[in-house]
Amino acid sequence: MQTPHTPWIRPEPLPGFVETEHLVLRWWQPEDAAALHAAVASDRAALLPWLPWAATTHATIEDSAATIAFFTEKRDLGEDYTMGAFDRTTGEAVGGTGFHRLVPEAEEAECGYWIRGSRQREGLCTEMTRAILTAGFRDWGFRRIHLTCAGGNMGSRGVLAKIGIPQEGCDRQARWIEGVGYDDHLHYGVLAHEWDLDAQAMRVPTE
Ligand SMILES: CC(C)(COP(=O)(O)OP(=O)(O)OC[C@H]1O[C@@H](n2cnc3c(N)ncnc32)[C@H](O)[C@@H]1OP(=O)(O)O)[C@@H](O)C(=O)NCCC(=O)NCCS
Repeated sequence: MQTPHTPWIRPEPLPGFVETEHLVLRWWQPEDAAALHAAVASDRAALLPWLPWAATTHATIEDSAATIAFFTEKRDLGEDYTMGAFDRTTGEAVGGTGFHRLVPEAEEAECGYWIRGSRQREGLCTEMTRAILTAGFRDWGFRRIHLTCAGGNMGSRGVLAKIGIPQEGCDRQARWIEGVGYDDHLHYGVLAHEWDLDAQAMRVPTE
């Protein structure tokens, strides 16, 4: 007989703090507005064309403050969980991650990420993603976490390949990306039992 189905409910208190070797992941706070603004506005081109919001948002520090207030509201409503990533040593805002597009009945969330231009190619996204997946399965109680990216986004694909997250699908030419044109929409996913919490890595399949 099928066991009764229990949808995901968010843990209380929310596990909104993660430490890695080089980073602290935590909720954006009102006092981070200038740091968030700088992380985006100092090099918008480094986030484009893959994050279209980087072209127009965060025009001023006040805009970034309003964005942080929006993140906080969404978190408190249980609709979206957006976190900042900060350099553990200097406190610099280096990027963002979090859990989005929650599907409680599937005990599932989407994980996203970005790293500011001046800190790309240091391995930070790989480190951050390993840590947020670990927190997602261990502390948040997700059964499945999915990630998506555009076919031409070699940086994002590189992170996913480095961690070994399996690609599950491809919606061919399903996205319009300004400056690129139509591109594939790639789907990746990890199930809780596939993730080694101690190693922060995909489990090596055993026969
Ligand atoms: C994608 C992104 C988050 C990667 O962050 P990062 O911290 O630079 O990634 P890492 O340093 O962990 O890179 C991991 C691997 O990905 C690959 N990679 C990263 N950036 C790359 C690039 N620009 N071109 C080709 N491969 C790249 C490499 O294989 C790299 O490993 P290596 O440096 O040992 O060769 C960052 O480039 C970014 O924010 N891009 C713009 C926004 C974006 O695309 N967000 C994701 C939307 S799905």
